[in-house]
Formats: sequence, C-alpha cells, structure tokens
Amino acid sequence: MISVRDFGTLTDGRRTQLFILDNGKASVYITDFGAHIVSFNVPDKNGVLTDIVLGFDNCNRYEGDVGYIGATVGRFANRIEGGSFALNDITYNLYTNNGPNHLHGGKEGFNHKLFSAFVEKEKLTLSYDSPDMEEGYPGNLNFSVSFELKSDELCIEYFAKTDKDTVVNFTNHAYFNLNGALSEKGLENHLMQINAEAFCRGDENCLATGEIIPVRNTGMDFRRLTNVGERLLGEDKDISANCGIDHNFVLSMQRGQYKKAAELISEDTGIKLECFTDQPGIQIYTSNFLDLKDGKGMVDYNKHYAVCLETQGFPNATEFSYFPSPVLKAGEEFYSKTSYKFSLANEE
Ligand code: GLA
Repeated sequence: MISVRDFGTLTDGRRTQLFILDNGKASVYITDFGAHIVSFNVPDKNGVLTDIVLGFDNCNRYEGDVGYIGATVGRFANRIEGGSFALNDITYNLYTNNGPNHLHGGKEGFNHKLFSAFVEKEKLTLSYDSPDMEEGYPGNLNFSVSFELKSDELCIEYFAKTDKDTVVNFTNHAYFNLNGALSEKGLENHLMQINAEAFCRGDENCLATGEIIPVRNTGMDFRRLTNVGERLLGEDKDISANCGIDHNFVLSMQRGQYKKAAELISEDTGIKLECFTDQPGIQIYTSNFLDLKDGKGMVDYNKHYAVCLETQGFPNATEFSYFPSPVLKAGEEFYSKTSYKFSLANEE
C-alpha cells in the first residue's frame, strides 16, 4: 500500500510530501520534491529491515543538496561538453555547473523541482512539465517518473514527450550502501558485477571523451563478482584519474532490450541488489566526491561510502554520433524502465 506524510516546507513556502510504498516485507520512501528516493528498507540475512540508500530527513536538506542524493536526474544526466550541443543545425547553450561542462540538468535540474503526485493502486507517478528553453533545452517537455514496489523489486519507469526536437537522458541517482546507510561502513565489503565488456573513458573532469575501452585486463573488469574496495585501492589509471569509478559502462545487450545490468552484494548483511534496465549504459559512481555531514540518523557520508548505479544513455552523447542517440523527436513518446531487485546472496 501507499501512504503519505508531510515532508516539510520549502524555503519558498511550498509544502512537500513523503510517499511510503510498503509491501509488508520492504518499503520505499519517495518525496515529490525532486522525486528523490529517501529510504529503501529491505530485509538482511537475519530478517532485520535495513535502509540501503543514503538520504535526508526533510525536504530542506534536499533543497541544498549538490550530491543528487537519491534524485531523479533530468533533463540530461551526467555531463555535456562545454555546456552546449547542436541539434537540427541550431546550437543550444546550457548552464555550466561542473567546471567547463553542464552536469545533471544544470543550475536547477529536476532534482530541485516540486513534482505533482498521482497514486494509482501500488504505483506512485510524479510529473513535472519543463517549459521550452528551461536550462537552455528546447521543447516543452512533459516528464513523469513512476515508482512501484513489487514483491522483491522497485520498478522505475520514465515517460517523456516534447513539442520540439530535444535531447534527454534520465536516471535515478540513489547511493546504495548494502551494509545499511546507518552502518558507517563503506564499499570495502561490497562485491559488484557489471554486464559490460567496455566502458567510456573520462577526462580530468570526468567528462566522457568518446573513447570506448574494453574492460578486459583493466581495473574496470567487473564481468565477474569483484570486491569494489580492492579495485578502488588498485593501480588502474582510469580509476585513479577520476578518484574512483565514475564511468559509464557499455551494457552488453541489444538496443532497447530489458536485461540485467549489474549486481551488488554486501558480505556483511548478505543483501543482494540486482539492477535491470533497457538503457544502453550504466554510470557507476563510487561516491568519489561525497563529503556530507549529518545524513539520515546523523551519519556522515564520506568518499567511497556508497555506489550509484545510474542506468542511462551514454554521457556526453550530444557530442558523438556513434553513441546511442539522445534525441527525442517532437511528438514521440520516450519510455524507459529500470528496476532494483533485492534478495539475499545465498538465496538461490
Ligand atoms: C555523477 C557524476 C559524478 C558526480 C555525481 C554527483 O554520478 O558522474 O561525477 O558529479 O554525479 O556528485
């Protein structure tokens, strides 16, 4: 069932809400401010409910957040080189909020918008109408994201429609710590597997350079379950250049096919999370720049405390014609689906 609570008042006086999706075994808390996932409680190997995502206790902390903690990201996830792109022979200029580049939708991305909420049975749909030229992007864009907690998975669906050709890339930026967000223990005991044969190289600003590198014989080879902490301490030059993993992995699947992208396990709690998507890429971000005081339960969030599994189109795809196209044509309907399935590592 879905219930609703007050989540505080924004500085401009608007009220926010917290929706609780509960299936009797697990629960997910989502706010209409920025469509953030606030909490995701799942049973550990002892049956203890464990909150596996980082977050905050009220809407005001999300207002000031620059780490996209649990956020729905739009209009365009990750970086766009130089904050501009060309479409139909017109150059569009975007806000540069990450060094010389545009990041995660700009100055005020979807993560800082108040969405309209609609509940139907077990599904929560949050909608936001982004006006033409908002943050420099063409087209009036009607965007919705829906969340549904099924018996053992959280399904997220993205819908969008535009009245002018535009570019889009949506994701959810949940930071997962399967020891529990309150555990104060980071990624060192996490195992990760990614269904990718290649990754996108990043430059010194973590911007995708257009190079696609095979993972074989590199520290980015997660084709088998691998300890994340050891890789972060290892010698791989792409990992050390970006202070950890902050890269798009090229998923091994047919275009648009809905398939398992990645898996994460905590050796302590036994919690296993599998990520499925129809998107071509997954940005794995090991919280390399995380430095936040007083998250939920007054826990500090530091470097390498959690990992984001951001299913998406390729970053900087506006720049490279050989990347999957991020263009959404006028009148076309964008649809995409991602799910996070939870279980226990030794369950099979
Ligand atoms: C993404 C980026 C990172 C960082 C985080 C937000 O995952 O790839 O470089 O900007 O978002 O802190």
